[in-house]
Amino acid sequence: MEVIIKPDSHAASRLAARKIAALVRTKPDAVLGLATGQTPLETYDRLSELHRTEGLDFSRVTTFNLDEYLGLEPSHPASFHACMRTSLFSKINIDPARVFLPDGMSEDIPRTCREYEERLRAAGGIDLQLLGIGSDGHLGFNEPSSSLSSRTRIKTLTDRTRKDNAAAFGGEDNVPHHVITMGLGTIMDARTCLLLAFGRKKAAAIAQAVEGPVSAMVPASILQMHPRAIVILDEEAASGLKRTEYYRWVYDHKPSWQKD
Ligand code: GLP
Repeated sequence: MEVIIKPDSHAASRLAARKIAALVRTKPDAVLGLATGQTPLETYDRLSELHRTEGLDFSRVTTFNLDEYLGLEPSHPASFHACMRTSLFSKINIDPARVFLPDGMSEDIPRTCREYEERLRAAGGIDLQLLGIGSDGHLGFNEPSSSLSSRTRIKTLTDRTRKDNAAAFGGEDNVPHHVITMGLGTIMDARTCLLLAFGRKKAAAIAQAVEGPVSAMVPASILQMHPRAIVILDEEAASGLKRTEYYRWVYDHKPSWQKD
């Protein structure tokens, strides 16, 4: 695991966007795994800006999102379909035929999940999976106790996650209980995992995921088993880590060709 600590979320988001842009430039038909939530929003802003100002070309890029709420139409403002449209897809030249999110309105959930996995495989797998982390250590919507080798499937949200996500729904009571999410095994198949976490609210989850034991009770800890997992943090999210001096030294002494 590579841990990179930036002074604030702006610098961290710029670095994340630079890494994604570098991939898209070297591999114009890259497959990106995307995440929702507040955390990746500034990274998406930077990517839109790179598209606008430097012509970063997304026309051959394919995207797969991690998850979606069950029972929400893609037009529902709190759906992840809508979030992705507003925060990124409407601002770049992505081909809508190459954009995939789980279908929250599916009437045959096992089949929808199977087909999502098949589509992912047919696209050649994910080159880079962008990730946020839940305050309880979840990835996508893989709540604590999720199988560490799970695939795309239905999950039930914990009360804590429903509370964390209540603002988008105007209150906890309106947050769906069920979701479709890529599994931890699906996420682990990505060739690179790029986890972003900002703010003190994420410090405990990050400390457990990065320096704690690998455990289904902290789903993000499975990234310790990934051959190329990069964790980009701001100072506050890094504040619960014990080995920050080492992480900083490693990053500061990387050869320049390895830095971005
Ligand atoms: C939701 C999403 C996750 C996201 C998490 C954290 O649970 N399914 O993918 O990482 O929220 O959200 P935020 O970035 O808003 O803290």
